[in-house]
Amino acid sequence: MSDPEIELKDSIFRFLRVEKKFINASNVFENLLENRFIRNHYKFSEMFCKERYLNRHGIRHALKSTLYALRLFDILDDQKSLKTSFEFGFYCYSGLCNFLSDQTCTVILASTFCHDVYKYFEESHNQPAALIAHEIKGDLEKVYPEKSDEFIPVIERCIWNHGGKKPATCVEEAIVILADGANCAKDRLLGNFSEEEIMQNDKKPIEYFSCQDIEKVQVLRGENIPVNVNFFINGKAAWHQISRFNERLKNSKLSNYVEIFVYFNDIPTPILRDSYMDSG
Ligand SMILES: [Fe+2]
Ligand SMILES: [Fe+2]
Repeated sequence: MSDPEIELKDSIFRFLRVEKKFINASNVFENLLENRFIRNHYKFSEMFCKERYLNRHGIRHALKSTLYALRLFDILDDQKSLKTSFEFGFYCYSGLCNFLSDQTCTVILASTFCHDVYKYFEESHNQPAALIAHEIKGDLEKVYPEKSDEFIPVIERCIWNHGGKKPATCVEEAIVILADGANCAKDRLLGNFSEEEIMQNDKKPIEYFSCQDIEKVQVLRGENIPVNVNFFINGKAAWHQISRFNERLKNSKLSNYVEIFVYFNDIPTPILRDSYMDSG
């Protein structure tokens, strides 16, 4: 039987080493995978979520979100307008603007991989992001001795706003917001609970039911707009996740670059594109 965790790690390494030849980002990823603090906290996060009937917030969620983030980065890195312009309201003190691709990729990878380490902390609190950034500083310094001080504030900001509650201030942050939101299909469920169990125990049962109604989410290169995010759904509760993703998209400030498509029961025609979402 294949192990989803191993498959996800392999896909990430394949992207970094074979497709992009980002050896530095790949070495940082290797260090992060071996970081005991990250591993132990993700184990704890997963236990915490299981006890509360919440969806996955452990290493598998971290890896899957990271893979989505790398796909987004790969497509958006080609977009010259994102690299030079302030028109999107990004500070551009970082990232696609000032860093090289391997460096931007490292920041996105580290932020997405570590974003939920402190799931059990208050999400709105600033401290977890700073603590995580502090814990992974050594992993970055080994590969980027001169750059890690520049990376840390960006990583902190990405982790702090990974839920996309505030408008993104740089492209990396926007990518982390969208990658986290895209990981909302049924493989996000931690257990096979009955409806009664979820309704009785979960404080927000819609989070469980909505992921259960999504078969898969794809992040692909689009034809007209650079990125297509395809939701394949099989039930009505899925709309909760789709509208949440749409809110994230607005705060990411990447609406001109990312288009949402929704497919119902594998019918090849999308039943919705995001242009309809705003009109109603
Ligand atoms: Fe989170
Ligand atoms: Fe998350």
